[in-house]
Amino acid sequence: MPFDRVLTGARLACMTTGAAPYGQVDDAVLAIEAGRIAWIGPADALPSPALQTDHLDGRWITPALIDCHTHLVFGGNRSDEFERRLKGETYTQIAQSGGGINRTVKETRRLPALHLAADTLRRLETYTAEGVGTVEIKTGYGLDRDSELNMLKAIRAVTHSADVRICATLLAAHAIPVEYEGRSADYIDEVCIPLARQAAQEGLADAVDAYCERIAFSPEETRRLFIAAKAAGLPVKLHADQFSDLGGARLVAEFGGLSADHIEYASRESIEAMAASGTVGVILPGAFYATRETQAPPIEWMRELGVDMAVATDANPGSSPMLSLLTAANMACVLFGLTVEEALAGITRNAARALGRHDEIGTLEVGKQADLAVWDIEGPADLVQWIGHRPLHGRLMAGEWV
Ligand code: NIG
Ligand code: FE
Repeated sequence: MPFDRVLTGARLACMTTGAAPYGQVDDAVLAIEAGRIAWIGPADALPSPALQTDHLDGRWITPALIDCHTHLVFGGNRSDEFERRLKGETYTQIAQSGGGINRTVKETRRLPALHLAADTLRRLETYTAEGVGTVEIKTGYGLDRDSELNMLKAIRAVTHSADVRICATLLAAHAIPVEYEGRSADYIDEVCIPLARQAAQEGLADAVDAYCERIAFSPEETRRLFIAAKAAGLPVKLHADQFSDLGGARLVAEFGGLSADHIEYASRESIEAMAASGTVGVILPGAFYATRETQAPPIEWMRELGVDMAVATDANPGSSPMLSLLTAANMACVLFGLTVEEALAGITRNAARALGRHDEIGTLEVGKQADLAVWDIEGPADLVQWIGHRPLHGRLMAGEWV
């Protein structure tokens, strides 16, 4: 049986763990069958012919990139808050004075799902131009039942129209909506938990997320939501310890969570708990940079304790106005001291793990989806060294050029 497609003359950064840095394979052939990687090896050992052969002239192939944390569906504009922050106000102060997430909520609630989806598709163009193949998108700017469902509908519309895979995350517990001011526990019980159950039942979301922070939800409220989400069969993840240590990373680890995100202020005990549960640490240098945070996430502890690190854009109109995953990888290296290999693992293998999709995507391995990025580069570090550089030659999704 011939393969559907064979890519020859390439260098592979398989991003598998093992002896070779980047899981590098030189002068390789990658064969595709039914949308999946069917064989990887040297040209002279190819076990069967192919219906189609593409010679890649020494280009590099990596897994298509994965952004495991974004807020790409939103309405409105908050560039005036950027100006206010430049004059000295903090992200927290702006959030507490009617700006921040609740401001975007007002704008988002006004817009039909198809309008939100169309805006999101435009934002996704910079991702695909950079070799991204999978993007997680959160709700969290609806904050009432119908508006959160409207956001999920927008995400589904994007899923059908975009040439990227989309993972939908329910983040109803993103902020306390104005209607529930002073009654955050009621909001969790009356809106977030029923929505999590509905999302699970109707297959509307792949995971449940929350924002555990002084300006949002307490660890106890987060715990109640997580109990309900897990009971409904949805995995959890958490915006944890971004501005203060509330023990959020430890909490999500206790639930076997997919990831703890931000984690600038996470304690060593929390990182130990993440190591024990296999919870990925998602670092978000765009938010660190744009909020002028000074406390870096505990990279050394994660390395020492063997916590997998992912890197994401956190794209949103407030704390992380950034649409470039390669820039996030660059910042993770420059601001936090990740190696290039750690940064690339953070936007491939470990990002897949943070989405619970590591059996399907994130590395070049036989059996996985043939989601590939083909690059005009001399080596993997070229992807991370530059800002604003897009050396993408092309992308394949499930084995087809897109
Ligand atoms: O991940 N931290 C909470 N949520 C976003 C900010 C969203 C916003 O400001 O609109 C974040 O940084
Ligand atoms: Fe976020």
